[in-house]
Amino acid sequence: MRTQVAIIGAGPSGLLLGQLLHKAGIDSVILERRSREHVLSRIRAGVLEDGTVGLLDQVGASTRLHAEGLRHDGFDLLFGGSRHRIDLSRLTGGRHVTVYGQTEMTRDLMDLRAAAGAATIFEAQDVALHAFDGERPHVTFSLHGAPRRLDCAIIAGCDGYHGISRASVPEAVLRTFERTYPFGWLGILTDVPPVSHELIYAGDERGFALCSMRSPQRSRYYVQCPLDDDVGNWPDDRFWDELRRRLDPATAEALVTGPSIEKSIAPLRSFVAEPLRFGRLFLAGDAAHIVPPTGAKGLNLAASDVHYLSRALIEFFIERSVAGIDSYSAHALARVWKAERFSWWLTSLMHHFPENGAFARRMQRAELDYLVSSDHAMAALAENYVGLPY
Ligand code: APR
Ligand code: PHB
Repeated sequence: MRTQVAIIGAGPSGLLLGQLLHKAGIDSVILERRSREHVLSRIRAGVLEDGTVGLLDQVGASTRLHAEGLRHDGFDLLFGGSRHRIDLSRLTGGRHVTVYGQTEMTRDLMDLRAAAGAATIFEAQDVALHAFDGERPHVTFSLHGAPRRLDCAIIAGCDGYHGISRASVPEAVLRTFERTYPFGWLGILTDVPPVSHELIYAGDERGFALCSMRSPQRSRYYVQCPLDDDVGNWPDDRFWDELRRRLDPATAEALVTGPSIEKSIAPLRSFVAEPLRFGRLFLAGDAAHIVPPTGAKGLNLAASDVHYLSRALIEFFIERSVAGIDSYSAHALARVWKAERFSWWLTSLMHHFPENGAFARRMQRAELDYLVSSDHAMAALAENYVGLPY
């Protein structure tokens, strides 16, 4: 089998890259380790920057998003018993974010790819990357027990944090930067109306909490929990009690509870690998970097990476120029590091750090008080939240 671009991974990065290339007449094959059903069962964040929506518009994958997605012009910060609205629209000259589940976006992209007749091979096992330091890389894998080979000109590593692409790069040429946080997020999904029509980020002495949503009937809530905690320790009633205690009385009172349909704990991590290019192998999305979920930048960074990568590959295949692929890594990393900073900052501001003493807690509070009293400070938060320019 032969293609121009072998894409490893059918998450948002791989699928969006595939469509951007398809639009430009560039052929790709996606190799995905899991089944389609498994990929579509993963629950992830759901706040899209306008740049991400623009890319989905560009490839024609946004019909359902525009019909069902929720436009959010602001969100609340809750601390010291009061809610403070961050008016995204006013602070950014009319920009907003769109709440639309990553799972739904993935489904839309998969349907579009299938309709275009482009190849996605699910349940590709033992994917291995070869000869990407030369001009004729190839990928081997097994499908239902039979060995297969895919020849290509470019390999796009879109296979997430635990994928094979970054792991295939010799250690000597890869630099990694990492910060782990001493807590996780316990999240639940439940079919009840959200407590507020906009998101609430709550920073409380007991720990962070987030009130989010997927639709007017489906809520997504999180509470900060110890890293070594177990979902088994969290029957629904305990979750709701803890969430209420981290909200102000009026919001706690308004909270509608229901049985959870999903409950899981995710660790928080900041991670960047550099560079993003090794010969004919390019990394994009979670394969290259991880942000803690505070601020919902993971999916949006994946989108900006594949925007840069698709441009570079179009230059390479259509205009026969290597300028784009030569600058991809520096170009994408400049935006990645800014989003890493923002996600780290918002995480540091809003969470309870067990090692923090009284002074550090007062500093967090002073920063929050300053933030909501200064339009300049709120504008800096808002412009990062709606997304920095590409
Ligand atoms: N071979 C083939 N596919 C693989 C392999 C492998 N060895 N390893 C992982 N994959 C697949 C995974 O099964 C997954 O479907 O690669 C895909 C990677 O998808 P994501 O993890 O969703 O990463 P990405 O597409 O970069 O999306 C980034 O998704 O993970 C969230 O929070 C993240 O929102 C961000 C966005
Ligand atoms: C979510 O709805 O899952 C979500 C929303 C905003 C965040 C993180 C997660 O900052």
